[in-house]
Amino acid sequence: MVRSLNREIVEQAVRERKMLTLTTHAYFADEREYVDDILNYFLEAAGRPGLRDQLTYCIHELANNAKKANTKRVYFEEKELDIHNESEYWIGMRHFREETTRNIEVYLERLRQSDLHIKVQFKLNGDSMMVAVRNNVRLARVEREKMEEKIARSHQYDNMADAYASIEDSSEGAGLGIVMMIIMLRNLGLSEEIIRFFTNESETFVLLTIPVAGDEMRGTPVDDNGSSTTFSIDSTQDGV
Ligand SMILES: Nc1ncnc2c1ncn2[C@@H]1O[C@H](COP(=O)(O)OP(=O)(O)OP(=O)(O)O)[C@@H](O)[C@H]1O
Ligand SMILES: [Mg+2]
Repeated sequence: MVRSLNREIVEQAVRERKMLTLTTHAYFADEREYVDDILNYFLEAAGRPGLRDQLTYCIHELANNAKKANTKRVYFEEKELDIHNESEYWIGMRHFREETTRNIEVYLERLRQSDLHIKVQFKLNGDSMMVAVRNNVRLARVEREKMEEKIARSHQYDNMADAYASIEDSSEGAGLGIVMMIIMLRNLGLSEEIIRFFTNESETFVLLTIPVAGDEMRGTPVDDNGSSTTFSIDSTQDGV
């Protein structure tokens, strides 16, 4: 069970321009709802409530990608396969989707026992709102190439119908998440630069930077003194 949202913490983070970090192993309906509530607070404060549906989609998509990537690590470890070896990667992926879907509870428990997590972070700055979705794994080369390919592909299409017709990659999902996200943000008139992908030896993360509306937020001093609020949204960890 996920703890209910602590509105005071969220309000304080919005008011004091602190980073709010949620940490979880799972990403199901409860976690999604929790994230939606927080996003609503931040969007209201940023004067951007109209972006709710689209950003909700983006965050859920990114968090699901992160969860899949974490689950893959647990699955590969169990099968004694090296995810960073390309031929072993494809051997592991043959049954990954089907087996982890069929044994969802088992893998959830393994994720809970592992040090793998998903973090969703929110921060309101003077003229922008930042949302980051991160997971603590190093990308396999295949994953990295897939992400790069999707990002490149998204530039080729104006709409989802065209993208849908030409993408064939169902090793993990429909293979449409990243393309859809980028096309959607572009169609909203937001610069593609608002979404950025990062990866290093120990982490993969995606950063969304949304400009706040109008001038009402501008001129408000940004209190970025490094303080942050971190808490966990599943019952296996205590909030900090
Ligand atoms: N956080 C991540 N860590 C590791 N690999 C990732 C991550 N995010 C994306 N990827 C890789 O990028 C690929 C493309 O992601 P995308 O969301 O476009 O498609 P998908 O998740 O496979 O399918 P769909 O989103 O349609 O269910 C994924 O299949 C995965 O290999
Ligand atoms: Mg996806």
